[in-house]
Amino acid sequence: MNAIIKKQILGQFFTKNNFWLKNHVLDFIKSTKATIAFDPFAGSGDLLKAAKEIGFKKIKGFDIDELLNWEINDSLLSIPKIKNSIIITNPPYLANYSAKRKNIYDSVKKYFEICKYGDVYQLAIEQCLNNDFGIMIIPETFINSKFPKHRLASITIIEDQLFNDTENPVCVICFDNKNKTYNNIKVYKNDKLLGSLGYFEKMRQTPQKNIYIKFNSPKGQIALRAVDTTNPAKPISFMKPEEIDYDLSDIKQSSRLITVVEMNTKKEAIEKIIKFSNDLLFDFRKKTNDILLSPFKGNKKNGERRRRLDYLTARAILENAYEMAHPNAKLF
Ligand SMILES: C[S@@+](CC[C@H](N)C(=O)[O-])C[C@H]1O[C@@H](n2cnc3c(N)ncnc32)[C@H](O)[C@@H]1O
Repeated sequence: MNAIIKKQILGQFFTKNNFWLKNHVLDFIKSTKATIAFDPFAGSGDLLKAAKEIGFKKIKGFDIDELLNWEINDSLLSIPKIKNSIIITNPPYLANYSAKRKNIYDSVKKYFEICKYGDVYQLAIEQCLNNDFGIMIIPETFINSKFPKHRLASITIIEDQLFNDTENPVCVICFDNKNKTYNNIKVYKNDKLLGSLGYFEKMRQTPQKNIYIKFNSPKGQIALRAVDTTNPAKPISFMKPEEIDYDLSDIKQSSRLITVVEMNTKKEAIEKIIKFSNDLLFDFRKKTNDILLSPFKGNKKNGERRRRLDYLTARAILENAYEMAHPNAKLF
């Protein structure tokens, strides 16, 4: 098999540095009293090497690739429970649509047939949860996914660059063998504890769909740059169409990063709606520390992660801004 295809099918991105090992993650590892570090997707063994450095005397690794000299196991199909072990792993990532786009779907079809989710890393989590304890480095998009999170003790967003060969935004999850409520699951960004998962879930913005708002409309009166630029002074923002440095005639039905929004309102109200939307967005980002906005590849120049505003949240913000601009309006 060609090396590039193999890298895509098996998700062979190795973890070359230890930015994931924050103090609270280390405390969690110690609190489990596990004596064996276990990586069911062991790859080049970097995570097991890190485990040895923090004091594990026994390690156990599996991989599907015979060339890597681990015991062979298809860990996306099942992972044996190992007594007194903690899983420390970085599983393969591969989205269903991306496998199809890269023409490698046939090789991974068997996983998607048993995976309720859109990416094999979620199947990997499901299999790893067979063990009592674990640490997993996974895509940050996990936070906003529907995957049930009751077994987690914490989620940590890591803004540093973890891999040499991919810019995929990642987080680290720690899980144990107890079911918890979301209010007892801690969310960190790097070393800082931000709050509970329950708090963030309550902050989610859902649109009422009670006013007419159309995205990607050439007739729109409000432009939205829905993604942070690498310049911290130019974040996601709502503006007049003539203010955006982009040719809006290029907007397509599928545009997800820059859009023009059409609303049913008088010309005089537009400026107010733009201002209120930006104020609401600023407040939302501050209160949620950006946790609820999708991560976007690559960081800003100041090292913070770039974010994308999805159109459901954007719609909810525009609805609230509309109400603020029309305090007496009757909404349908
Ligand atoms: C992202 S790499 C992680 C490697 C290692 N944890 C590290 O950080 O160095 C994923 C590894 O999982 C292996 N892999 C992919 N699919 C697998 C499967 N179904 N069962 C077991 N290993 C698999 C790949 O060969 C690759 O070595």
